[in-house]
Amino acid sequence: MTATRRLVLTSDHAAIELRRAIYDHVTTLGWDVDDLGPMTPESTPYPERGAEAARLVAAGQYRSGIVLCGTGQGIMMAANKVKGVRCGVCMDTFSARMIRQHNDANMLSLGARVVGLGLALDIVDAFLSAEFEGGRHATRVDMIRALEG
Ligand code: RB5
Repeated sequence: MTATRRLVLTSDHAAIELRRAIYDHVTTLGWDVDDLGPMTPESTPYPERGAEAARLVAAGQYRSGIVLCGTGQGIMMAANKVKGVRCGVCMDTFSARMIRQHNDANMLSLGARVVGLGLALDIVDAFLSAEFEGGRHATRVDMIRALEG
């Protein structure tokens, strides 16, 4: 069963500082967070990082995953290759809320070279506090699932 307040967090080397700030923030809010790293600044490929977190989310161990790279785009693309994952990259709070309410996103991606700290934390809050609305949106999410084969 999915833990309701469990999160997995990861990034590539471009987003270590922002990832750690998000870790501190969500921990303070009472989330149980597994930070997969990296903890040191060596270059690390975002596809591996994104896939690792996405597999854990798809396995149902977490309510959500948050992934970061320089733009948020590459790690989002990698995460979305894992069956069962719906990951959106967000640069605003409206989109962060809507990917939960309408798309039932189970992962959020952020670009550390795109958004500043304050906005990033607001985006995280919007994503974590929103719930899927179901109804007509569930039909559409089922259509996404059908595309996975
Ligand atoms: C790494 O330099 C950079 O390419 C990566 O963090 C990300 O922006 C890729 O989408």
